[in-house]
Amino acid sequence: MSENLRKPFVAGNWKMNGNLALVAEFNDKLSGIKSNADIVVCAPSLLLHGFKPNGFSIGTQDVSHCDNGAHTGELSVDLIKEAGCQFAIVGHSERRDNQGESSELVALKAKKCVSAGVVPIICVGEPLEVREANNVEAFVGEQLDALVSELSVEALSKTIIAYEPIWAIGTGKTASPEQAQEVHEFIRTYFAKVSVELAQGLRILYGGSVKPDNAETLFAQPDVDGGLIGGASLKAEDFISICQAAN
Ligand code: 13P
Repeated sequence: MSENLRKPFVAGNWKMNGNLALVAEFNDKLSGIKSNADIVVCAPSLLLHGFKPNGFSIGTQDVSHCDNGAHTGELSVDLIKEAGCQFAIVGHSERRDNQGESSELVALKAKKCVSAGVVPIICVGEPLEVREANNVEAFVGEQLDALVSELSVEALSKTIIAYEPIWAIGTGKTASPEQAQEVHEFIRTYFAKVSVELAQGLRILYGGSVKPDNAETLFAQPDVDGGLIGGASLKAEDFISICQAAN
């Protein structure tokens, strides 16, 4: 598989923000958007019914690893598909930290997505103290180990990885293009040990303070295939210009 087969990918993560007025604005402004990237908006689940995606897709910010049943408050892959989602973010650091999600649970969620034809956008990334201690590869490597133990090569090939250094999320401190490339290359090399073909085709997104003015240099890195955008995905104009930077 050639590197060109990695179509650029930009996903917005609205987190716990937005309203139906913002959904309507996105329907309007993103309608028929021209970009070489696959574009996804991951809004709060209760807003998804308002989207009329044209030129973009919608996704959730989490999903259950369980099938439909007695799981109060959870959303299954069947339910998110019913709502029109083809994508689900799993393992965002905010959920790993605030909801205590382990790498094993994240892997089960990713596996459940793939089995239902939903593409999981699987987040990995280190906190500042790990970076300062020079342990990024060991830390991210352990997060990846859990994926490789749970998912087959074929299943992994139907996922997207997002590298989001926690110290860069919502802080305005973007990783430099070199810092991002270094970890993305590590991630691709990690997967190449599992399967070279898998690694060559796997899309790896960068997330953490991506803005219209830094997106292009980040996305120009050889192993950066697009971005997972937080704050800047709440402004249609900014999000559109980031999508266009992925061309
Ligand atoms: P920011 O773009 O606001 O830093 O958030 C990144 C993120 O967490 C996307 O999932």
